[in-house]
This record gives sequence, C-alpha cells and structure tokens, in this order.
Amino acid sequence: MISDYPHLIDLADHPVSWWNGLLELGQEIMKNPALYANSCRGKIMGTLFYEPSTRTQMSFQTAMLRLGGTIIGFDNPQTSSVAKGENLKDTTKIVSGYSDVLVIRHPTAGAAKAAALTADCPVINAGDGGHLHPTQTLTDLLTLKCEKGRLSGLTLGLCGDLLNGRTVHSLCKAMACYPDNHFILISAKELAMPSYIKDYIRAHGGTFEEMTSLEDAIPKLDMLYMTRVQRERFDDPAVYDALKDTYVLDTKKMKLAKPDMIVMHPLPRVDEIEIAVDDDPRALYFKQAKYGMYVRMALILTMLQSKKKTELLSGAVHPGIKCANEKCITRKEEYLPKSFIGKGTTLTCEYCDERLLLKH
Ligand code: NCD
Repeated sequence: MISDYPHLIDLADHPVSWWNGLLELGQEIMKNPALYANSCRGKIMGTLFYEPSTRTQMSFQTAMLRLGGTIIGFDNPQTSSVAKGENLKDTTKIVSGYSDVLVIRHPTAGAAKAAALTADCPVINAGDGGHLHPTQTLTDLLTLKCEKGRLSGLTLGLCGDLLNGRTVHSLCKAMACYPDNHFILISAKELAMPSYIKDYIRAHGGTFEEMTSLEDAIPKLDMLYMTRVQRERFDDPAVYDALKDTYVLDTKKMKLAKPDMIVMHPLPRVDEIEIAVDDDPRALYFKQAKYGMYVRMALILTMLQSKKKTELLSGAVHPGIKCANEKCITRKEEYLPKSFIGKGTTLTCEYCDERLLLKH
C-alpha cells in the first residue's frame, strides 16, 4: 500500500542520505534559528500522545512554534473521544484532516504505521510501544555528530532494558548503517536485545557483543547510552522490581571510562544514573534533549516540503494469521489488514517486526 504522503515510521524506510540531510539542516537551524522563524507560518501540527511524554512532546511543540507554525492535539487520550471508545483509524482520519503534519505516540507496537494507513497528512512516529522511536534516534545522531564529530568507527555501549526500550532498537538499526560501528549490549539476560535487531546489525555490517557487567564494558566505550527499565511494558510488577536496579551508573564507574567517553540517555532517568554524575562534563543527556528540538525542527520542515510518497505495506495480507506479538496493534485494532513479509517459513509482521514461524 502506497501512501500519498511522506511519513517517518522507521528511519530504515528512508536512505541514510536523507537522515544525513536532516542532521545538516538541524545544525544549520541551530546556528541561525532566526532564518527559520517563519518557515512554517500558517501550518498546523497535530500531536496525538496516547502515552506520557515530556521531551518528545514539548520538543516537537516548541520546534513547530519556533518555525512559526501552530499546534493542536491531546496529551491524554482520556480527554478525547478515545475515552468513548473511538478507534485509532477514526481519530487519525479526523485529526489528520485538521493538520498539516501529525505526530503520534502510542503504547502499542506498530500504531504509527497503522495511523499512517488512513492519515490525510504526513505522520511522524514519536514512539510506538516497545518497538521504535525514530525521532529520538535523530536526536541521538545529531548529538553524536556534534559531540564526537563522527557517526562511524565508534564503540557504542547500550545498557539497561534492551528488550523493551524502543530508543535502543531504533538507535542500533541506524548506527549499524554507518561503517565500522561496534555495539556492546549490556543487559540482564531477561532484558536482552531482541534477535531481529541483532540480525539487523549483522546484516548491515555492524558487529556486537553481549555483556552483563557494566564495569567490564565501560573502559572500551566511546559512548554509553543508559536506559531505564520500562516499567509500563511489564505484565508482572514483581519481574520489574527484580530487574529495575540491575545497572546504576555512578561516579565510581565513571572513573573506569575513557576521558572522552560521552554518556547519553533518552530520559526520563529513574535511578539508573546517580545524580552526582550530572556534574561530570562527559554527561551529555541534558544537552542531548536540546539537540532533539533542532533536529525535530529540521524534520517538520522537511516533511512539510516533501512530496514523497511512502510505501507502507509491501507484503501479503493473511487474514487468517494473527501476529505472534500480543502487543502488536493488529491484535487491538482488528480491522487492520494483517500484512506480513514472507521469507521461507518465516513471516514478519509489517507493523511490529515480530517474526512468526509457519508450521507445515
Ligand atoms: C523515551 C521513550 O519514550 O521511549 N523517552 C523519550 O522519548 N525521550 C525513553 C523512556 O521512556 O525510557
């Protein structure tokens, strides 16, 4: 299914040259914001936030306001008709008709793609469940570009909830597309990186190793990306409690790191970075959040100027097959075409990337 609009559902849907263009534009805007103050005059951005957010929502909103545009939307679906049982299709259809660009965050994997199927304007994925978070990755890429001076030849440590953390999924997929990056995946075994992301890294020429000790990994790193354990994705609170404090970055561990290693975190922080680390000049997470505003300005501008169509579904519809992922949007919004990409006996859901093994 080809949509008439440009969308950002997954960075992998666009070439690396397009991401690089956004980073360059973000840097240009950062240098001279006044030049862009009226670039989106008369345009309206709709924000549909079905999940809590501080940075993503406010950086998108300020980005649009700083470009001279205006904003509508909700940050609590309970104050919209969603509380009356309205489905994602209808909400999207209506609000996209009022807006020039739509930004959506949803607790369910694949929701942004599902929204784009019916939207009458470009859709930007601001986080879909534990799946992807492409605009956080653009933020991370701009931070690395400005602070490390390069996006290749880096040893990147990702630590915490690698299973449910959408930011690390998008970041690994993106950084694997630049040459000579090595990933050190630091997590408890229960929260390890999904195999589809590890396969993606391999397929794109990246290398990775998995470790459980942050102390052992930290001396090797050019960048450490800390993440919180994603409480809202756990069905059993006892499992969350058992895992939530596995990794804490403190000043003692920072002493083991290279003098030019940088610490990033998508935020919010819970307890995984001790407050005292904030005073270390290598702690860049607050600066990182500001880069996010500039790269989102670049993204909004680009989406509003682009006439590109987007291929949303390219596989085959299998009405009788359910996605194996209970947290996939196709399990909640049953009208959605159950579209899979087929490869041998494996089908991959086109909304959430979950793989399904066919029995013969
Ligand atoms: C992240 C998210 O929502 O996935 N936050 C953000 O957008 N900056 C990370 C998180 O919630 O842990």
